[in-house]
Amino acid sequence: MRGQHTTNLQIPLDEDVKIGGRTFKAGTLLNTGLDVPAHSLLPLGMRASIAKGKAQVGITCALCHATVDSKNGRVLEGAPNNDVNTGLLLAFATNSAALFRQTGVNPTKIHSGEHTYINAKGREARLPDAKALEDAVDADLLTWPPGSFDSTGSLQNNPSQNPSSYTYDAWPYGWSGFSSVGWFHGLTTLNNNVHATNSDPTTGADSSLALLGIDKETYLGVIFQNAADKRFRLPNGAIPSEFFEKIDPTPGEPGMNRTIKMPGYPRGSMFMLDGLMASTPGMAVAEQLNGMSAWQNTLAPPPNQTQYFASD
Ligand code: HEC
Repeated sequence: MRGQHTTNLQIPLDEDVKIGGRTFKAGTLLNTGLDVPAHSLLPLGMRASIAKGKAQVGITCALCHATVDSKNGRVLEGAPNNDVNTGLLLAFATNSAALFRQTGVNPTKIHSGEHTYINAKGREARLPDAKALEDAVDADLLTWPPGSFDSTGSLQNNPSQNPSSYTYDAWPYGWSGFSSVGWFHGLTTLNNNVHATNSDPTTGADSSLALLGIDKETYLGVIFQNAADKRFRLPNGAIPSEFFEKIDPTPGEPGMNRTIKMPGYPRGSMFMLDGLMASTPGMAVAEQLNGMSAWQNTLAPPPNQTQYFASD
């Protein structure tokens, strides 16, 4: 951007691609809705780091919960990004299928493919066809309006609008008020929902049978059969839960994220919706989550800019 800012980073396609049954022609300018602050090398809400000698780029809460002021290129913390095209960005990912819970696609309704696995009954079976599943999930993701995300892994394709993060005195949290219990009037419960559920589909493996009617082996098999990173790709004939234990970067706890099992796990509660609390080992319980809450409560909208002109 040569120091300039934008509230909609447009990316030209250099080849024809077919995503979710839709053809995007070479030369198409994709409206990502990503914001780039003035003099920034990366879009807002994206961070680069070096891990094990490899450059990694990830996203932060600010991707959806902050925006760039189109007039001066400055960051407005807590104002929603109301055109970030999350559905489009996710659809273009290699393994969008891993996020099937957030769409209306039930993998057990997709015809079987070639990939074999050992199912929950201990028998060799075939996973849903990876390409058909990816296409179906992509097609659902492409229906999401810009500025929205589906934060409920309920097999219903129902995204909601990114809300503002001016959270002080604004409980109950979530559009439906589902985060109303716990520290900071439920704000910590919502922050946890982002870390322990939405950013890590593997956290749902132990409850997938009860909640979605999909057994754990099929659930994990679907997530890993087409993993973008080869180290995480399920080999043919494997038991998905055993494979996951081998490649899990955080062994000992369910899921990949660093979490603490609540007493009722895998049952959820009003306090910790999926029975897991995100927490980095070595830190006090909920220190990070409550820190996020305290900080969000300091955010306030910019002062009213209305200008009054004397008439005549
Ligand atoms: C991909 C976009 C996206 C990202 C990234 C994201 N959120 Fe959200 N956030 C949403 C959406 C959409 C909702 C509304 C969900 C609902 O109510 O169903 C929401 C709701 C919230 C709320 C409730 C606000 C209120 O007043 O009701 C809080 C708090 C929140 N998010 C915190 C976070 C935190 C903390 C992070 C990072 C760890 C984060 N979010 C990352 C999209 C996002």
